[in-house]
Amino acid sequence: MRETDWYKKMSFYQIWIRSFKDGNGDGIGDLYGVYEKLPYIRSLGVDGIWFSPIYPSPNADYGYDISDYKDIHPDYGDLDLFTKVLDRAHELGLKVIMDLVVNHTSDEHPWFQESRKGRDNPYSDYYIWRDKPNNWASLFEGEAWEYDPERGQYYLHIFAKKQPDLNMDNPKVREEVKEILRFWLDLGVDGFREDVINFISKEEGLPDGLFFLPAARGMSHYKDGPHIHEYMAEFREVCREYDCIQIGEGPMTTVRSALKYLSGPGKSLDMMFSFDHMMADCLYTEYLHRPFRLRKLKRAFSKWQKALDGRAWNALYLENHDHPRVISRYGDGRHGSLRRIPLFWKESGKMLAVSYLFQQGTPFIYQGQEIGMLNIRLNSIEQYADVSSRNNYYRYHVKDSIKKRLKRIHISSRDSSRTPVQWSDERHAGFTEGEPWFYVNNNYHTINVADEENDPGSILNFYRKCLELRKHSRTLIYGSYREYFPKDKRIYLYERRLGKMRYLIICSFVRRPVRVRLPEAYQNRRGRLLLCNYPKTVKKEELNLYAPEGDSVKELLVSKIADHGYFRPYEARVYAFSSK
Ligand code: NOJ
Repeated sequence: MRETDWYKKMSFYQIWIRSFKDGNGDGIGDLYGVYEKLPYIRSLGVDGIWFSPIYPSPNADYGYDISDYKDIHPDYGDLDLFTKVLDRAHELGLKVIMDLVVNHTSDEHPWFQESRKGRDNPYSDYYIWRDKPNNWASLFEGEAWEYDPERGQYYLHIFAKKQPDLNMDNPKVREEVKEILRFWLDLGVDGFREDVINFISKEEGLPDGLFFLPAARGMSHYKDGPHIHEYMAEFREVCREYDCIQIGEGPMTTVRSALKYLSGPGKSLDMMFSFDHMMADCLYTEYLHRPFRLRKLKRAFSKWQKALDGRAWNALYLENHDHPRVISRYGDGRHGSLRRIPLFWKESGKMLAVSYLFQQGTPFIYQGQEIGMLNIRLNSIEQYADVSSRNNYYRYHVKDSIKKRLKRIHISSRDSSRTPVQWSDERHAGFTEGEPWFYVNNNYHTINVADEENDPGSILNFYRKCLELRKHSRTLIYGSYREYFPKDKRIYLYERRLGKMRYLIICSFVRRPVRVRLPEAYQNRRGRLLLCNYPKTVKKEELNLYAPEGDSVKELLVSKIADHGYFRPYEARVYAFSSK
């Protein structure tokens, strides 16, 4: 019976394999590509990899519709190749965690193929079948029920039609899940990221739902359902036999409900991905976009930091395969057109790194985030591959003009994070020697790994510095968190503290210079500047770009270098103080 905590010191890199790196020239990312890039991943300073699903799948939801839980998708390789990648990752000191998707399978999974045949075969109760549907909505495709003519009943699908929900109340299904866990753990993986795990227990009788957002109708009857903690305890028991970690994905989870998974005697997860901080520019991810509000972001960050401190552990992230690129959302990209690289692309990319990497928790970095990749802008909805973007376009706000609807897709589509990783400025960004399966962002001549490797001031090298700093500071890993000036609309300022050590992390979220107030306890104290996203000296011409009205460049220069009173656009600084 083990309870591990090695994950607290770690940081992870997330691979969405299809767009990571193609190693065999067929235009699709694969395990050959991963193998080749393992040293690169290690060089970032991360200690682990999370693989989004790499199992066989018809790709209705790009891997999150699994048709075989114990194999590798032929597009990506096979089990032998996976083992080779796993062994090499371990040799390099990287842990490997897999995606566990057991709220639903693909409709092409043999269990569903059997289940739909009738009501009296061994798999007939593996899924949720009804003669009459209730009023629940699917998060991805219309109503949550689909009629199956073969079985003569409706099946439940909270996500796409090709993702029927498993019936977790059936003990045989839970045994299958445990077998899947054992299969991968026996192979040597180090844990799981558990997809929409708070949805797996549905309320008895499946009552009709009420919800003001159409897509979430019914959610209160399947989120944190009645038997969830019993089922989670069963899975935890298997995982305890191994030295592994479990991270849950918790859409719409609250601090209160998350703590039930993360702490106390019934602890069933080591960390949970929450979504609150993803709502700082939207309501319910793809449904409704609003202007970015720093205060909303800070409130979400601080809520989770405070609530979990000393009781549980946060999973920190700004990007993953479900959200558009963060510089385009919370950085300088939100001001301009997607056709251009924003003026403060680099500065805001680095600032965003600082804003979350030094919070208490285990950081996750999504492929391409470390080089500052941006959203893509495609010309028609048909060019988008993602089922949920299409649903969004065809289902919501349909009275809006095509232009307006497409604009919403440009801002919100998950496909923006799924474009091929930009490795170099060679053809297809060095992602493949063949024809890429999806559009490469045409800004790859400027934004790519090879160029950033050669630039000491790149976003890539800045991520390395941040991770290095975090890794060597007990205060940044374990210290308590305190936010100052939560009402400030331009600056995010937080402190990490442990014993005599304190770190002050200051991030400007605006594209003009701002005067920064220091908390009283820090005024007139000498701190050591450990990290800044601007070079120490700035050329005069550069300053003209952002000299605030009424300030001469000279004054600005003096105030900046002497007392750091002004923060430059998107400036971020990390100071260390040790108490007298
Ligand atoms: C959450 C995953 O992150 C997302 O990509 C997927 O579409 C849904 N769960 C359904 O599996």
